[in-house]
Amino acid sequence: MTETTPEYKPEDVTPPELLPAALARQVPDWAEAAATPADVKDWPQRQAAALVPFQLDQQGWPLNPQGRTGRTGRNLGKWGENAAADPIVVAGTGRDRRVLLITRDDIQVEAIPGGMVDPGETAPAALVRELREETGVDLADHRPVILGRDLVDDWRNSDHAWVASTSALYLLPAPVTAVAADDALDANWWPFGSLDQLEAAVTAAGRTLYAAHRPLLRRALDHLDK
Ligand code: RP5
Repeated sequence: MTETTPEYKPEDVTPPELLPAALARQVPDWAEAAATPADVKDWPQRQAAALVPFQLDQQGWPLNPQGRTGRTGRNLGKWGENAAADPIVVAGTGRDRRVLLITRDDIQVEAIPGGMVDPGETAPAALVRELREETGVDLADHRPVILGRDLVDDWRNSDHAWVASTSALYLLPAPVTAVAADDALDANWWPFGSLDQLEAAVTAAGRTLYAAHRPLLRRALDHLDK
């Protein structure tokens, strides 16, 4: 008996405003104009600048380094890697240690106050800008510890467009006032003795921790507790 491989049929997650016909009329200010990856002309440069290395397939389309996602198309600004910056701001020590999270307005989960790196912007600049835009906290004078450059299991990822992030740790002696703005519905300091403690506090408040940020938060805790 011969085994047949089931056909791979990823779901197209492209929103209406990024479909080719819509892009031909108007390109949203957060997106690139390329209707497909074939319209992108600088793949070698993008590969060289990537936070996480990626390959192109036989037709020249970028491949998510995470492997198949079951999703195709583009629900992010760019084809291929979309570079983000995630500032993990921690205040206090011991039992009083807390982390600053925002409620994302798109999927209503508690997340690191991060965002996409703007064209021509450096990751350190994006860390400071996103934190200021979403919480009003200005840490331009602080020097963070860069924790890593990683793929993020973002809800918008597909096989050909995905998020990779530079995450960095800021340490403050005590919480400072944070006010939600921009893409944030709320901004709060949560108990951060462990991931379990954070998760329990978020759940007890009737909220949900953004699953894609768990690995980044876990690594921050590993760094703090080492
Ligand atoms: C997450 O989405 C990243 O880790 C970062 O926190 C954020 C970037 O997207 P936007 O907030 O700009 O939508 O996956």
